[in-house]
Amino acid sequence: MTKPRTDLPDSAAAPSPADPVTGHANAVVGLQWGDEGKGKIIDLLTPNYDAIVRYNGGANAGHSVQFAGKRFALHLLPSGILHPGVLAIIANGLVVDPFALVKELDTLNQQNIDTSGLILSDRAHLVLPYHQTQDALREQLLTKDDTGRAIGTTKRGIGPAYAEKANRSSAIRAGDLLRPDTLRERLEHACRFHNTLHALDPDTTPHDPETIFRSLQPIAERLRPHITDTTYLLHQLLRDNKRILFEGANATLLDIDHGTFPFVTSSSTTALGIPSGAGIPGKHITDILGIAKAYSTRVGAGPFPTELHDDTAHTIRERGREYGTTTGRPRRCGWLDLVALRYSTMINAADALSIMLLDVLSGLPELKLCIAYEFNNQRIDRFLPDATDLARATPIYETLPGFSEDITSARTPDDLPANARAYLQRIEHFTGTPIRFVSVGPDREQTIDMQRA
Ligand code: GDP
Ligand code: IMO
Ligand code: MG
Repeated sequence: MTKPRTDLPDSAAAPSPADPVTGHANAVVGLQWGDEGKGKIIDLLTPNYDAIVRYNGGANAGHSVQFAGKRFALHLLPSGILHPGVLAIIANGLVVDPFALVKELDTLNQQNIDTSGLILSDRAHLVLPYHQTQDALREQLLTKDDTGRAIGTTKRGIGPAYAEKANRSSAIRAGDLLRPDTLRERLEHACRFHNTLHALDPDTTPHDPETIFRSLQPIAERLRPHITDTTYLLHQLLRDNKRILFEGANATLLDIDHGTFPFVTSSSTTALGIPSGAGIPGKHITDILGIAKAYSTRVGAGPFPTELHDDTAHTIRERGREYGTTTGRPRRCGWLDLVALRYSTMINAADALSIMLLDVLSGLPELKLCIAYEFNNQRIDRFLPDATDLARATPIYETLPGFSEDITSARTPDDLPANARAYLQRIEHFTGTPIRFVSVGPDREQTIDMQRA
């Protein structure tokens, strides 16, 4: 069973804006189409922080952490939950499936992981079964349509839950779990609306508000001690000289505004999403670490200029175990797109990069980097965030020699072959951003700190 931490600042007291912010807030964000290895890096950095905070998305995320031969997959809980004593905060910007959250807690508790550090914002919106029905139904209709409009979502109900939030009147937030009358009334309203919509498909069974209400009661009791106003809490932590790390979910090119729209997720996935997703002003956020693979992957539909369909794609997929952490779907694989990476670095104002899965490229005779696109018979060097445009862009490559050495045991920059170092230097030079970490395997230990040369 999870019992909440009792040593938190008094939630009834409001921090005064006059009190100085002596703590600091940093962020880790994905720079590509997700699954860059954010979970691994968050886990590595967690010992330097008092709180790890998710600010966007929901259970569409799948963050893997591996150490001492054990492997964990986190979907809603911040990856810092694996470290005892650290607060794991789910802020207001998420859409939370309460059933999935409790299941995740149970799984970790069975593995003797202490989850007492969980704190859930009373303002986080809930994903409920009718959102998942709508997500699946929508995808099914779009696929049948065969117009290439299906997004290939994770079917976790993310889009419909954010739409409910935007619609307001039938939306249910975590705090409503503790207000039975409001909860019942909102469920009735929401089910009426969703059942009408779902009647489009005769195979869909209508959702019964009373059944959902009853199934939520034990969940509400379980989560009750963890639910609070996380905005005040985070501001208090910053005034108490604490260190906060924001954990981005999904990634920059899936951002609702800045990604390859409409083939994106429904939240603000970049560092720009932190202020609204957690209530912490941008001026308090320093040191943003951008995570990117040494190549590119994408799950679901949407343009991917450097995608490969040959043996190299197969090699990358099998070596990198490129199958979704959340859905198990094979990930689409391709060369590193430096134009896209430079764009993501700009959007997030990333101070440094972490280049992941470099080990996967070992043995490839040559490595290609996309350094510009051909678009409308012209060479362009800017990213095209609109999916229609990006689908018509052809990559222009620069080719570097590959490396054949097994680098999974490399622990310092000098352990890397010269060709691998040259590849990394090209990334730094093109993006104008220094590389802080290089990852050469899934384990915590398989990491090179480039600044500790
Ligand atoms: P996230 O969503 O950004 O946290 O990334 P995922 O966990 O979904 O996917 C990254 C996958 O790559 C996971 O299976 C990790 O265990 C694995 N991984 C992370 N870094 C490395 C690395 O440097 N080399 C290899 N081979 N695997 C890695
Ligand atoms: P992490 O945090 C990879 C993709 C889905 C789909 C699109 C919309 O593990 O990096 P959604 O269910 O959000 O409506 O799906 O976004 N997607 C991800 N792909 N990693 C993720 O998260 C993703 N979250 C969403 O595959 O194409
Ligand atoms: Mg993932």
